Amino acid sequence: MTDTVTKDRVLIFDTTLRDGEQSPGATMTHEEKLEIAGLLDEMGVDIIEAGFPIASEGDFRAVSEIAKQARGSTICGLARANLADIDRCWEAVRHARSPRIHTFIGTSPLHRAIPNLDMDQMAERIHETVTHARNLCDNVQWSPMDATRTEWDYLCRVVEIAIKAGATTINIPDTVGYTAPRESADLIRRLIAAVPGADEVVFATHCHNDLGMATANALAAVEGGARQIECTINGLGERAGNTALEEVVMALKVRGDIMPYETGIETKRLMHISRRVATVSGFPVQFNKAIVGKNAFAHESGIHQDGMLKNAETFEIMRPEDVGLSETNLVMGKHSGRAALRAKLKDLGFELGDNQLKDVFVRFKELADRKKEVYDEDLVALVSAAPEAE
Ligand code: KIV
Ligand code: ZN
Repeated sequence: MTDTVTKDRVLIFDTTLRDGEQSPGATMTHEEKLEIAGLLDEMGVDIIEAGFPIASEGDFRAVSEIAKQARGSTICGLARANLADIDRCWEAVRHARSPRIHTFIGTSPLHRAIPNLDMDQMAERIHETVTHARNLCDNVQWSPMDATRTEWDYLCRVVEIAIKAGATTINIPDTVGYTAPRESADLIRRLIAAVPGADEVVFATHCHNDLGMATANALAAVEGGARQIECTINGLGERAGNTALEEVVMALKVRGDIMPYETGIETKRLMHISRRVATVSGFPVQFNKAIVGKNAFAHESGIHQDGMLKNAETFEIMRPEDVGLSETNLVMGKHSGRAALRAKLKDLGFELGDNQLKDVFVRFKELADRKKEVYDEDLVALVSAAPEAE
């Protein structure tokens, strides 16, 4: 790639706190949600989907507080296609410097059967709800849920209605992780070509990972013209999860030669936020997970270690520092000092005050006396059992 290539900007829309939190068992506390939203904001996420305000008092409060604390990110809330949902969503997001309402309805034959609306009735509902949302907020996202299983003609029809009613972003969800990369690219490309007014809105891609293709499908959609990727930290989300934020961001960074698109993400923060999300959601990251897994930058075999010592590029396509992992992978044992413990804990996503560190250090030494190597999981357990901040 030469320096003269103009890179198109791709917006990163993080839905860890909405779609991610919908994973059975991944519920976070109010404080944890605020903390994760703060980290997403600092990392440069363009849009944070902070929750589903009408779903519960807790969700409403979390979205409102996140909207108040946000500095750079747009704060978005989810709403079904009815006026009460949209009003409640607006009440929560309106505190943000940059608010967005995201409203959706299932448009595929299977999803249309749920509210028992025929095609014309649903089209009318879309017109009414998007118009209502747009009267409240300048920034409205509309999603035809299960778009990838919606009839082509009907999809074009409803997307056009949403654009005419004032939607500024059209998201095309692959709700059940059914599409494949070529199809994902073609769908966006064909929609942009076929629907009047499509060139005046941003098209987004929202992929689920049921067949393990969410990252590939999202990147293909960008090739097809999507300029917003919806994703979650660690790929958290219902069933097999969503597109993993860290994967699409690093793929665009590392393979800018063939995918000349930029994001605003500060990638050095990826490891820290990944670990915090794993801790607060209770969903550990698999060891061999791309980018943020414990083994993503580990080299065990003699041939690999030898190659790495001569030239790190032999077996690494990105530097561990680029995702926020310290260059030296510290092995913690009884000879490790307090500074090493502090650095290691920082890597793991914990910044402790002096008193808390002192307490963890004492218990770390006791453990290290009994164990040859103290693993990351041991340290996480020690910190979790420590008294709260001083
Ligand atoms: O997967 C999906 O279709 C969704 C919508 C609410 C956008 O999460
Ligand atoms: Zn989803």
